[in-house]
Amino acid sequence: MRTVAVLGAGNMGTALAQIIAGNGHSVRLWSIETDVLEEIRDHRLNTKYLPGLTLHERVTPCWTLQESLADAWLALFSVPSSVVRSLARDAAPHIHGEQPVLNVGKGLEEDTNKRMSELLDEELPRHGGIAVMGGPAIASELAHGVPTAVIVAAADAELATDIQDTLQNESFKVETTTDLAGVELGSCLKNAYAIALGMCDGAGYGTNTKAFLASVSLAEMARLSQALGGQPQTIYGLAGLGDLITTGFNPHSRNRTLGEKLCSGRDWQEFLRTNTVEGVAACRARDLAHRLGVATPLLHTIYDVVHLDRPPEETMRTFLRDFSYG
Ligand SMILES: NC(=O)c1ccc[n+]([C@@H]2O[C@H](COP(=O)([O-])OP(=O)(O)OC[C@H]3O[C@@H](n4cnc5c(N)ncnc54)[C@H](O)[C@@H]3O)[C@@H](O)[C@H]2O)c1
Repeated sequence: MRTVAVLGAGNMGTALAQIIAGNGHSVRLWSIETDVLEEIRDHRLNTKYLPGLTLHERVTPCWTLQESLADAWLALFSVPSSVVRSLARDAAPHIHGEQPVLNVGKGLEEDTNKRMSELLDEELPRHGGIAVMGGPAIASELAHGVPTAVIVAAADAELATDIQDTLQNESFKVETTTDLAGVELGSCLKNAYAIALGMCDGAGYGTNTKAFLASVSLAEMARLSQALGGQPQTIYGLAGLGDLITTGFNPHSRNRTLGEKLCSGRDWQEFLRTNTVEGVAACRARDLAHRLGVATPLLHTIYDVVHLDRPPEETMRTFLRDFSYG
């Protein structure tokens, strides 16, 4: 039996805490939200993030990072990518040289376009290796035992296997790879492309158009990932194709919904103000593509709409008219 520190008691942190505890391990679940921790302590519930789920008794709420990380075999970061660097800074004094770190947040750092594993390596003077998780796992489904598969990447294959052993069970499958760049880029870029798939819904295009754009998305993700050191087959698996399907086709996905609202002219500014839509920042990867000379016309189209205020429906129509496999 192992002890795992889960940092962040939102949707995904709580779902993973439940899985890990159900597998027989102990979880020290930390959050900045004291009301969430109190409800877990008093009622074994986290109604803010995963209503209806009774948390396992082996999930212990923790009010300090020190308490959560002390004696933990693994530090699992489950916070939005925009706060990974600051959380790593706060956690650094409590992470020791034999303690591996697993990040499940999806995204690149906004100003630098750095991957989360790169940030963690910069901010943590000591750690026992860095791993990341990608793939199609909607927290609410995962927490309720819906059969799900993810992929864990670490440069050290043995670490990826150790994490697989801790997380995997009969309904939760964990593939492993050493392709950190491929998993992280797929996990981030699919959020941007899901906005384009949502735009198809908002504009009233059919399944043909969504499938067309999904295949263009996949080709662009594979090209960009490869130029940045990832393996194309990672993009054609769980971390790219799999995650693009859940994010681009699930009606509840925030990235898809933003795209739909953009093209149907409905309250998208209000939606952006009240929701974290990670695809908005992910579009900035178009700067990387530009610098490396990688052709990503669809990513540029999404960027133009989201960041340069180009008219959504007209910009998408122009893309569909001018696109050529040439
Ligand atoms: N929800 C999912 O289905 C899912 C699946 C796979 C991966 N992810 C990824 O996991 C990450 C977290 O997603 P989520 O859906 O759990 O988010 P969430 O909004 O449900 O939870 C976010 C958590 O981060 C904490 N947090 C926010 N700001 C913080 C700060 N400044 N310092 C410390 N903690 C802070 C919150 O208290 C909360 O515990 C995202 O990057 C997301 O892409 C989510």
